Amino acid sequence: MSDHVLIAADDRAITITFNRPERRNALSHDAYAAVADALADADAREDVRAVVITGAGEAFTSGNDIADFMQPYPHGEPPVMRFLAAIRDAETPLFCAVNGAAVGVGLTMLLHADFAFASKTATFKAPFAALGLVPEAASSMLLPERVGHAMANDILIAGRTLNAEEALRCGLVSRVLAPDALMAETMAVARSVASLAPNAVKRSRALIRGDRAAIAARMAEENALFAEQLASPEFAESAAAFMQKRAPNFG
Ligand code: COA
Repeated sequence: MSDHVLIAADDRAITITFNRPERRNALSHDAYAAVADALADADAREDVRAVVITGAGEAFTSGNDIADFMQPYPHGEPPVMRFLAAIRDAETPLFCAVNGAAVGVGLTMLLHADFAFASKTATFKAPFAALGLVPEAASSMLLPERVGHAMANDILIAGRTLNAEEALRCGLVSRVLAPDALMAETMAVARSVASLAPNAVKRSRALIRGDRAAIAARMAEENALFAEQLASPEFAESAAAFMQKRAPNFG
């Protein structure tokens, strides 16, 4: 369990809420572990037919906790790896209700959601190059497939921020909703999907999600490069700049 994640069960749906609003729901090691556990638990339970992820407060999530990135995880494989494998492989339909800023993995996790809805006030960005990092969550493959190379480069390299309407046009989300309608509509669709024939839903989504082996292979390739970048002077500079609230200087 983690204080940074709330988990609530509601009939056939589980809601996972990133709950660290003072850090715009930055994801700590504990948060990744708690979400991975909740997704595994949902898969293990016959009565759970939908998982909904959202954020508390203003943001969906500001992505990985930058402070956690700055020191090696002390206990073996970092929980983010389990989280990435879980959103890739989980069998329960995954809904994301993007209530505010979705940064880094907040954006790339949407590529693994079966249903993603956004509040009109949501924003989306994945400024990996500005952070001295490379894309993760197989976004280097899944995003260009979805939006084309030009827009993928604009998002993953140039770090362009999309508003909700742009995210809709890019196919990152399928509905843009008034902020106060977001959770009600997401829960209504989640409950509706949860009431459908469960094997038909599972098989359909597995077909629609595409080639899992190719996604896993790309994640592994990205993870190796990501780890190298995390240990590089480029990331050291971007992390120092973030902490000191200044722009990074890469020379
Ligand atoms: N890791 C650690 N701390 C974070 C964080 C992160 N990913 N994102 C935000 N915070 C902290 C800020 O440093 C700030 O701390 P402070 O109160 O001690 O100054 C606090 O959360 C609030 O953030 P702030 O930037 O003031 O909020 P905002 O509402 O103006 O902007 C975001 C929200 C999400 C757009 C903005 O915080 C942001 O872009 N964060 C960086 C995201 C990022 O680069 N993530 C890594 C992706 S790989």
